Amino acid sequence: MRNGSFPNTFRWGVATAAYQIEGAVNEDGRGTSIWDRFCAIKGNVRNGETGEVACDFYHRYPEDVALLRELGACAFRFSVAWPRVLPEGRGKVNEPGLDFYDRLVDELLANEIAPVVTLYHWDLPVALEDAGGWPERSTAEAFCEFAEATAHRLGDRVSLWITHNEPWVAAWLGYGLGVHAPGRASRPDALAAAHHLLLSHGLAVDVIRREAPGAEVGITLDLTQAYPASSSEADAAAARAADGEKNRWFLDPIFKGSYPEDVLAALAPDAPPVRDGDLDVISTPIDFLGVNYYRREIVAATPDGRQMVHQPDSMYTEMGWEVSPHGLYDLLVRVHDEYAPAAIHVTENGAAFGDTLRHDGVVDDPERQAFLAGHVDAIERAIADGVPVAGYFVWSLLDNFEWAHGYGKRFGIVYVDYPTLRRIPKSSFSWYRDLIAHATTLGG
Ligand code: FCB
Repeated sequence: MRNGSFPNTFRWGVATAAYQIEGAVNEDGRGTSIWDRFCAIKGNVRNGETGEVACDFYHRYPEDVALLRELGACAFRFSVAWPRVLPEGRGKVNEPGLDFYDRLVDELLANEIAPVVTLYHWDLPVALEDAGGWPERSTAEAFCEFAEATAHRLGDRVSLWITHNEPWVAAWLGYGLGVHAPGRASRPDALAAAHHLLLSHGLAVDVIRREAPGAEVGITLDLTQAYPASSSEADAAAARAADGEKNRWFLDPIFKGSYPEDVLAALAPDAPPVRDGDLDVISTPIDFLGVNYYRREIVAATPDGRQMVHQPDSMYTEMGWEVSPHGLYDLLVRVHDEYAPAAIHVTENGAAFGDTLRHDGVVDDPERQAFLAGHVDAIERAIADGVPVAGYFVWSLLDNFEWAHGYGKRFGIVYVDYPTLRRIPKSSFSWYRDLIAHATTLGG
């Protein structure tokens, strides 16, 4: 690795999300979210685990910001819990909830770390879910109230805003398959949810620009590069269908103002509830695209659809995800060629491995280090080939609550000893610290 291709403005960061790290679910007037409720139902989350305490970031954030400083991170991506700001989803703003993020932003700035705010990382207030949730159009309007209150308070100091994290996951895992909160399983609901998530994104872009003049605004998508398993036409069609549902379904409306025809036809008779003008709103120009990348998919046709094919020669992470840095390179080049976003931030990339705390107090994670190094290399190659990648955020700073997997999957570059909540930087932390120091010296 040379690291010479990274511009000196490149943002080296780490990413987190509110429900996965904060804990303090009953403090300072926070309302209930769909994840609080989902976790309380037996069988939804491994071992009945919840985000009630998580990493206790709500109280320990000064210690974690000190870790970020030690890392040399230029940016910290976190999300704002909607139920802390608007406990009922809309209406009265809970100022103590916003105060927390105010303190966090100030602490970051005092340590010369740029705050990067995600508005929606999946913790919808239950009051809105009870009124129909994301399949209802009114949730998109409520999201604007949340965006307005948050950007009004933080917009003078936060210059990078992400409206949504992974709308595909929020819509399909939450409403289509029922394996994430709120645990509903209906294809029309998933399609309606996805449409309203996108609509709310477009509406919020304007709101944020009004409240935070000069800020950069974007959205984060989980994109997966899909390759056909063979040169057969059937496998090529299967890979195109996978790409359509996962990637183009979101990229096309945002960048081209239309849903892809082939996917619309495949999903018929279900269709998203599109009204006149919606696609103009959704395609409001953005300043950057956030890309979360974890794996590639090798897709084969089956008699009743398609399936992912296991690659015997590949390495897989604890999530069962295939490691493929080259997939990230291909994806970045392709998104640049087909959609030309003004800038791309890789807003999440990382891996779960079975880390253990040794008796000598060390957590050695060479697999994660190799994973991250491979992906940073892929980004460097993409930049050298003209793709405007402006930032890279490792998922995640800390081991944390990995949704339905509970605390069973460790993604952090810092180990969390859950019984004591002690933080122990892993060897990948030192590796990333050195990489940032080296890259910023070369770049700057
Ligand atoms: C992404 C999520 C993030 C985390 C990682 C592993 O899909 O955005 O919260 O769970 O996966």
